Amino acid sequence: MDILLIGSGNIGHVLLENIERMPEIERVYVFDIIEHAARDMEKEFQKAVFTKDVRSAMKDSDLVIEAASHSAVREYGPEALRMGKDLMIMSVGALSDESLRKELFSLASHNRGRIYAPSGAVFGTSGLGAASMAGIDEVVLETTKPPAGLRNVDYLKKKGIDVNSITERTLVFEGGAEEAAKAFPKNVNVSATLSLAGIGFNRTKVRVFVDPDIERNTHIVRIKGDFGEALCRVENVPSSNPGTSYLAALSAVATLRKIVSGIWIGV
Ligand SMILES: NC(=O)c1ccc[n+]([C@@H]2O[C@H](COP(=O)([O-])OP(=O)(O)OC[C@H]3O[C@@H](n4cnc5c(N)ncnc54)[C@H](O)[C@@H]3O)[C@@H](O)[C@H]2O)c1
Repeated sequence: MDILLIGSGNIGHVLLENIERMPEIERVYVFDIIEHAARDMEKEFQKAVFTKDVRSAMKDSDLVIEAASHSAVREYGPEALRMGKDLMIMSVGALSDESLRKELFSLASHNRGRIYAPSGAVFGTSGLGAASMAGIDEVVLETTKPPAGLRNVDYLKKKGIDVNSITERTLVFEGGAEEAAKAFPKNVNVSATLSLAGIGFNRTKVRVFVDPDIERNTHIVRIKGDFGEALCRVENVPSSNPGTSYLAALSAVATLRKIVSGIWIGV
């Protein structure tokens, strides 16, 4: 199998480290808007092949992995699916945009392409998916971040909230996942994944706390429905990019392993 990897940052690195040990994968074309970052991957990893020509690399690949940004999902996602390729999306928050989401889902279904959205930085998405086959009354995500994780957020500035002056755990946002996506465009991957796995952006509720006494991004998911009740809590160790949890990168690797092996446990 040949892959096009868009984004040679933190998740891209963890993917390639693991791909070196996956015999099913022969070649990984690497594309990045920062050219030298993609070139460095070619030097670092045997299977990595630097490319400037994203479209021809896409044609030659079986799977396109986006590990870059919301804009990369918009720019390359529809094209990959139009070419009949499978697409793994890490910047899942991009799917909070309803028109892009509809376009990608419809292209996947018309062209028989698959879209993979790994579980990312949260636990419980597979159970939530199963639970959503019957009635769900409530999905609530409580995210707690250290102040550094929510610096330069326009929504907080407009509300007059200075995260650096917060001295104890403080609720800074409460609302629906759709509203959360607008308020925290760079922090919405987890709420987007939960919305898609469960009851959608309108019904999924989000609370965001700032806590100066923690170092790890913490997510608590509470679910109530016909199946019963669930509570999942994860304290995430950051990866080399402080904005990305190590678990999120590992979820991309786990998804890829399922794709190449054809064995899907706990999906
Ligand atoms: N699903 C989840 O739970 C989850 C968790 C963490 C991060 N993410 C998302 O995954 C993505 C990658 O995360 P990361 O930590 O590897 O980021 P990173 O900043 O370490 O690396 C991203 C790389 O992509 C490149 N890039 C950005 N836009 C591009 C474009 N349009 N075309 C080509 N290259 C582009 C950048 O130059 C950079 O080298 C981010 O959007 C992040 O929000 C998702």
